[in-house]
Amino acid sequence: MAKAATRKKAKAKKAKTVEPKIYKGLAGVTVDTTSVSKVMPETNSLTYRGYAVQDLAANCKFEEVAYLLWHGELPTRSQLRKFEKDERSRRNISRAHIDVIRHFPRRAHPMDTIRTSVSYLGTTEIAWGGEPAGKDMDRAMNLLAKIPTMIATDYRFRKGLPRKAPRTDLSMSENFFHMCFGEVPPKEVIKAFDISLILYAEHSFNASTFTTRVITSSRSDIYSAVTGGIGSLKGPLHGGANEAVMHNLLEIRTPARAEKWLRDKQKNKELVMGFGHRVYKQGDSRVPTMRAALEDLAAWKGDTKWLEISDILQDIMINEKAIHPNLDFPAGPAYYLMGFDIDMYTPIFVMSRITGWAAHILEQNASNSLIRPLSAYGGRAQRKVKLISKR
Ligand code: COA
Repeated sequence: MAKAATRKKAKAKKAKTVEPKIYKGLAGVTVDTTSVSKVMPETNSLTYRGYAVQDLAANCKFEEVAYLLWHGELPTRSQLRKFEKDERSRRNISRAHIDVIRHFPRRAHPMDTIRTSVSYLGTTEIAWGGEPAGKDMDRAMNLLAKIPTMIATDYRFRKGLPRKAPRTDLSMSENFFHMCFGEVPPKEVIKAFDISLILYAEHSFNASTFTTRVITSSRSDIYSAVTGGIGSLKGPLHGGANEAVMHNLLEIRTPARAEKWLRDKQKNKELVMGFGHRVYKQGDSRVPTMRAALEDLAAWKGDTKWLEISDILQDIMINEKAIHPNLDFPAGPAYYLMGFDIDMYTPIFVMSRITGWAAHILEQNASNSLIRPLSAYGGRAQRKVKLISKR
C-alpha cells in the first residue's frame, strides 16, 4: 500500500517536470526584432530598410547602401558626398599597423589576418577602461574605410609585393582593386564587384551578425564584436563557402566531368558547397542578380567554362534534391574571373558585411538586453567528490 503511494507520488512529480523544448541551432526561433533587413523565404526576397536588394544592386553604388543600412534612408547627393569624403579620408592605416601586418605568418589565411588586424585596430583606438557611449557610428566608419586597406596590404605582403597606399579619388570598389593589383579594371568589373558587395552587405540574424549582437549585448565594444563576427563568417557553413565553391569548380575542371563529380559527392553523402540555406528553401533571393553579374563577367573575359559547370551542378541539385544554390555559388567564380586569389573571397565578404554588422551593433546598443539563452543539462547527476586516495 505504502509502495503504491510512493510510486504514485514519484509519477506525479515526474509529470510536473516539463522537459524544455530544445531548438538546436536556434532553428525557427525569433529572438528579437530588427529594422535593418527582412528576409522573406516565402517569396524568395530580401529588403534592406524596405528596398529590394535587386533594386539597390541595379541603381545604387555600395557606398549608398552602406549609408542606407546605417542611417535608415538612402542619401541625398550632398549626404553621399559627405559620407564618401569621410570614408575616403580614413582609408590610411598607421605605420605600426602596417608593421603588424608585415609580420603575419605568410601562410596564415587572410581571414585570420583580417580578424587579428581588426582586433589590433581596437587596441589602438580603445583605451583601458572601455568605450564611451555614442562612438559606434564613428568606429563603424573607421572599420568600413580601413578594412579594405588591411586586406589589400596583407595580400600584397603575402605576395612579396610593396603595399599600394589607398587613393582618395576612387570609389571603395575601385580603390580596392588599385590597392590589390595596382590598377583599376574596366567599369564592367567594378560594377560586378560593387553588386557583390551590395548583395553580401546584410542578411538579418545570420550566424556572424548574431555573433556581433551577442558580443555587443554584454556592452562590449564594436571592435570586439566585429572580430567575433569575422571568426564566425570564416566557417565553411557560412562565408567560407564562396571559397569552397571555387575549389570545387577547379577540381571539376571541365563541364564533361561535372556530373560524375557530383554523383561521387552524393554517393559519399558529402555537402555540395554553395547549395542550401537555413532560411531560404525555395531559392536565395540574391542569386539571380549575382548570376547575371557573373554572366556579364564571363562574356567580358570570354570564359564561360565555370558557368557551364555551375549549370550542370545546379540542374541536378534543384531537379533531384530540391536544394537551391545560395549567393556563394555565383560569387565564387565571379571573384575568380576578377582575378582574386581564392583565399581573398571571404575577406571581400568581410569588407561588405561590416556594413550590416555595424547596423546591427547600433541597433542592439539602442535597445539592449543581454543575450543569454538557457540550456538543458544532459550530463551526470549530482555526485560527491571522493578523496583521491579512494578513487
Ligand atoms: N549539399 C548536399 N545536401 C545538402 C546541402 C548541400 N549543400 N544542404 C542541405 N543539404 C541536405 C541536408 O543534408 C539535409 O538532408 P537530410 O534531410 O537527408 O539530412 C537537407 O538537405 C536539409 O538540410 P539541413 O541540414 O536541414 O539545412 P540547414 O538549414 O541545417 O543547413 C546550410 C543550411 C547552409 C548549413 C547547409 O545547406 C550547408 O551546409 N550548405 C553548404 C554550405 C554553404 O553553401 N553555406 C553557405 C550558406 S549561405
